This record gives sequence, structure tokens and C-alpha cells, in this order.
Amino acid sequence: MEAVADLASFDEIHRRFAEHGQEHVFRFWDRLDPARQVRLLAQAARIDLDALERRFAATRELARPGRRHLEPADIVRLPAHGGSPETFERAARLGSDLLAAGRVAVMVVAGGQGTRLGFSGPKGTFPIGPVSGRSLFQAQAQKIRAMTRRYGRSIPWYIMTSPATDRETKQFFESNEYFELSRKDVFFFEQPTVPAVDFEGRLILEAPDRIFESPNGHGGSIPALVDSGAVADMRARGVDTLFYYQVDNPLVRIEDPAYLGLHAEVAAEMSCKVVPKRDPDEKMGVVALVDGRLGIVEYTELEDRYRHARTPAGDLLFWAGNIAVHIFDLAFIERVAERADELLPYHASAKKIPYVDPEGRRVEPDEPTGLKFERFVFDALPAASRARVVEANREEEYAPVKNATGADSPQTAREALDRLYRRWLREAGIEELEAGLWVEIDHAFANGPEDLRARGIRSIAEAGAGIRVGPRGRR
Ligand code: UTP
Repeated sequence: MEAVADLASFDEIHRRFAEHGQEHVFRFWDRLDPARQVRLLAQAARIDLDALERRFAATRELARPGRRHLEPADIVRLPAHGGSPETFERAARLGSDLLAAGRVAVMVVAGGQGTRLGFSGPKGTFPIGPVSGRSLFQAQAQKIRAMTRRYGRSIPWYIMTSPATDRETKQFFESNEYFELSRKDVFFFEQPTVPAVDFEGRLILEAPDRIFESPNGHGGSIPALVDSGAVADMRARGVDTLFYYQVDNPLVRIEDPAYLGLHAEVAAEMSCKVVPKRDPDEKMGVVALVDGRLGIVEYTELEDRYRHARTPAGDLLFWAGNIAVHIFDLAFIERVAERADELLPYHASAKKIPYVDPEGRRVEPDEPTGLKFERFVFDALPAASRARVVEANREEEYAPVKNATGADSPQTAREALDRLYRRWLREAGIEELEAGLWVEIDHAFANGPEDLRARGIRSIAEAGAGIRVGPRGRR
């Protein structure tokens, strides 16, 4: 009966789409069987065409050059770059107290489609471990278990999926028994999708009965945290501070008391971590004062006059590349979610979007065919009344897995992991390892050189499965 009722709404929905110049999405209607007609109609009924038009018009404005004036922002530098070691030590004590008091939760955004990597499953399931092949999710779970042990309390983990990743992600956690975490401390929530358009603003059919949609960007996490009940769950646990990171950075330091302390000591509403950009063209957003307010400009939207600006000493003026590791005050999340339409605009980027040819066959294009819309989480930053920007050591904290080969690939990430673990071994006074091998440390076993020292390990062999060594090369 429901199917009939749905089909009965065809005329009305078709009229609405025709009024917006979008009736082409029904061009295969007569060839679809009733079940597929219902599917298309149900999807069409959900789409807010006024919002779509507004979004399409607004993205042109966002991309207009000369729109914004940028100045360098105030950044807490690492001691190696002139920052004060005492500042970091003091902050680390404060951050440890927050963790021990159970006021901190951790969240990861894992709803992206990982198109550049070209891996068939959700990125979090990608086998990144240089020796064990452990997945990105497993390595993150190991880090959270290390924190649970150190601070003597569970650290809740909120995982954002999207319709593109949700089912497989949950199955992966199930089949791996939640990586020895307690199920009640792992909370999945889903972000919504938004339709893409071609360069004229028309919806794109990816199948005769399906309009192409994609996850609405990492910025979709802020409203989704509230809508899903994740924020309410945090409140019930006594959490007021949320540590945010992306699923595809295997070096992410999830336990970072100094960063937490730097955020908390100024009662910041949002904080950001940055590393010096390698070169002007590195694909990272930069933190800057944007028209006088702290903000982040995505690399796709950074004008050349700022991208290449240099100091008199020849350094990049806008050097502070955003590594997408944030801390949020929970009340700030709630405030931004309430004003999401205003504070989290959609940004458009040209992508290769599959479409159907006149016969209804799917075409995978080699060139961009349209615009995907995404919200950026860092667009919340200017709304923060207090914010902190903290420099991180790239070697220790940032090695994203974006591309299948070359820069920012699994190979470069594994090399970075190997270098990190070798440094830990060295700092803990453990034997040096020959160059032809890869080493991997289970974070739940030791999450830094101090843990290795505390365990009293003098050789790799003594660590058992905690430290693994294997042949170096491509996995
Ligand atoms: P990217 O913007 O690098 O996208 O996401 P991606 O999906 O990983 O890869 P490409 O661009 O398709 O190749 C950065 C982080 O934000 C998450 C991703 O899962 C990743 O952790 N993300 C991105 C979401 O959770 N939802 C989105 O809609 C987009």
C-alpha cells in the first residue's frame, strides 16, 4: 500500500522538479519498474530544491577572488621553534587532569568516500600497519586503550560514518570484536548526504533510478553530533571537551594532554593543530586571521597572493597548514549546530561524478563532470569566541593517507610510522634496528618511549607481540 501511496505523489513531485528545471531526473521514469519508481520518488521527495539552488548560487560567491583579507594568526609554537617548554609542561598537567576526570571524548570523521585512495572499503578499514597490516581503526583503538589504561577510565569514542561507509564500518568493528574496546564506549553516528549538480546546477542521475548524492563533508559532523544524540550521550557521561581527528592520519596523536591543556587554559571553544607547509602548493588549508577573525582557508580557495606571500626572511607568511586535529567545547558544538546553515556554508568542488548516458548506462568520467558540495568543520572557527592554534611536529603527528601512490600514500605513511617507532626505541634506549626492516609497535602495549621505559624492556624480543619487526617494502 505504501508503494502505491508513494507513486501517487509522482505528479506533485514531478511538478516541483519541473518548476526548478530538474525534471530530467525522471527521464527514465516510464522504463522503471514500480519498485524502482518508488525508490527514485522517495529519494526525490527528500531533496530540498530551494536549498540546492541557494547552495549553487552561494558557492560562486565563496570562490570569488579578492573576497577576503588575510593576516598571519597567533600560533603557539613548539619549543623547537621558539615556544616555551614550560608552557607545554604546564598545559600537559592540566590536560592530564581533564583526561583523568573523564571530561574528554574522542571523535573521528570516517564518512568520506576515499576516492583518491581507490580502496574498495571504508578508509578506516585500510591495512596500514607496516608489519601487522592492522587497520587504521585498529591502530586508533590501540591508542584509546592506552589512554584508558593510563588515565584509569574509559574514553568514549564517537565514530562518524556516512551512508557510503556505515554498514561496512559497523560490520568491521563487529567482526574484530571492537578491537578489545568496550562496546558501550563506542558510538556510531551517521552524517547525511547531499546531491551533487553539473556545472549548470542540474542534478545528476548516476543510475536511471538514482540521483547522485555524496556525504556532506566533515563539517556535517557538527549538526550530526547533536542530531544523533552523541552530544547528549557525552553530557550524560560528564564529557565537556571533544577531541576531533580524521580517520586517515595514522600518526594522529589521540592522547595529547598538552594540546588539551593549551585549549582549556584559555577556555577555548575550538582549537586547531598546524604544521609548517612543505611548500606553497601543498594541499593543506591555512590558518590565518580572515578579515580580522581566526579562520582556515582551504587550499582550493587560497588566493595566489597569499599562497606565495613570504616574510622578509623568505619564509612562507601563511605557513600554518591545518592537519584537521581539533578540540571542541561541547557547548560550542551545540551553538554551531543550531546555526549550521549560516556558519557552515557548503563549498563546491569539481569532481568526476558518474552519470548515465541516454540509454541509461553508467559512465565513469575521466574529467570532472560536476560539483560536489561539502561543509568544512573548520568553518566553525570564526564563530569561536576564544580559540587556540598550536604547532605540531609533522614527523610525529601527520602522515595522511590520501593517494594510492606517491605523496601522502600508504607507502609514505608506513615509512613515517616506522621512523616514529624507531625514534621511540632509540629514546627508550632499546637496540637499534637494521635499515632493511620495518618496525611496528602496538599502541596498547606502548604509546611512546616513556611506556617502553616503564615496561623495563631492553630489547625488541622482550616485547613479544608488542613490537613487531618485518621485511621492509610494499605491503
Ligand atoms: P577528505 O576530504 O580527504 O576525503 O576527508 P576522503 O573521503 O577521505 O577522500 P577523497 O577526497 O574522496 O579522496 C578527510 C577526512 O574527512 C572525512 C574523511 O573520512 C576523512 O577522515 N570525511 C570527509 C567525512 O567524514 N565525511 C565527508 O563527507 C568527507
